[in-house]
Amino acid sequence: MSSRVLVTGADGFIGSHLAELLVQKGFQVRALTVYNSMNSWGWLDHSSYAKDMEIVSGDIRDPFLCQSICEGVDIVFNLAALIAIPYSYVAPQSYVETNVTGTLNMCQAALKNKVQKFIQTSTSEVYGTARYVPIDEKHPLQPQSPYSASKIGSDSMAMSYHNSFSLPVCVARPFNTYGPRQSARAVIPTIISQLANGYKEINLGDVTPTRDFNFVKDTCSGLLALTETDKTNGQTINIGSQTEISIEETFNLIQKLMNTKASLKTDQSRIRPQNSEVFRLVCDNTLIKSMTSFSPQFNIEKGLAETIEWFTNSENLKKYKADRYNV
Ligand SMILES: NC(=O)c1ccc[n+]([C@@H]2O[C@H](COP(=O)([O-])OP(=O)(O)OC[C@H]3O[C@@H](n4cnc5c(N)ncnc54)[C@H](O)[C@@H]3O)[C@@H](O)[C@H]2O)c1
Repeated sequence: MSSRVLVTGADGFIGSHLAELLVQKGFQVRALTVYNSMNSWGWLDHSSYAKDMEIVSGDIRDPFLCQSICEGVDIVFNLAALIAIPYSYVAPQSYVETNVTGTLNMCQAALKNKVQKFIQTSTSEVYGTARYVPIDEKHPLQPQSPYSASKIGSDSMAMSYHNSFSLPVCVARPFNTYGPRQSARAVIPTIISQLANGYKEINLGDVTPTRDFNFVKDTCSGLLALTETDKTNGQTINIGSQTEISIEETFNLIQKLMNTKASLKTDQSRIRPQNSEVFRLVCDNTLIKSMTSFSPQFNIEKGLAETIEWFTNSENLKKYKADRYNV
């Protein structure tokens, strides 16, 4: 019998790709999309795999809803979250309610339903600006934004359910992820959508920070790999490529791949407070490689090429508001 899995945040960028991968691998997938009166399933509205999923709409802030969606489930991937850093400056309480309380609700529901694996999706943002590179799982946590603080809280809540109640929790810590369907607030969609619309000056914030960018298919295979063994229970585990590239270098590489010659323009409204900007993130992926079959398959050129191909399709591009600063 195939495992029954629940993906929260399945309407979103990574969650929709993960839910599709799980269908391809033969899992029975229940997909949670956030409830809204338009009956939108987010990116699953456009997925040819949606017909093979059980799609449920709801909200992880509601413990009753969490209880019902965990019924009959073997594995939970908890991806539902508020994730934009700038929006967390103006609406921080909603981050606590969704990311911390929502995770608490999901852990309690998973415990009651005897779920066999609970993958809590963390983020490299919790590390803040690297004190050393590559960043292993022992690196100190530095809450440089309310978003980061809320994820530190949600990771801790999930791990407390392992420590207190033996819920089989693994905290997955993906580094920056990009690819088709990523939200407009993120830097790679921001660059590509402006270039694809023919802009000659590309509005960006600080281009000096460096990141470990991961193609979404690699992040999803990393999340799935963490379910291969019980040894990942009670562990926090990075998912990343162990490579480093600055935003400016990424901009130049995208221009090369798209054959464009635009210039960079610093938009002051996109500059983050000095102590909030995370200046350097590079993953140490030794632990996940030693415990699972995970091995990144996409270098940045290959991943960007697939991303550009998707964004430059006019049906996809028109969903993005390239003329404004999307938070
Ligand atoms: N994108 C990245 O670079 C990245 C990197 C590391 C970790 N992550 C983590 O991966 C997860 C998915 O991120 P993403 O990039 O796909 O973001 P996303 O915003 O595309 O997806 C998150 C989804 O959660 C849903 N959601 C929000 N509040 C909800 C609620 N109260 N109840 C139910 N659903 C709710 C949203 O509708 C959204 O579709 C998040 O937990 C994020 O912190 C993302």
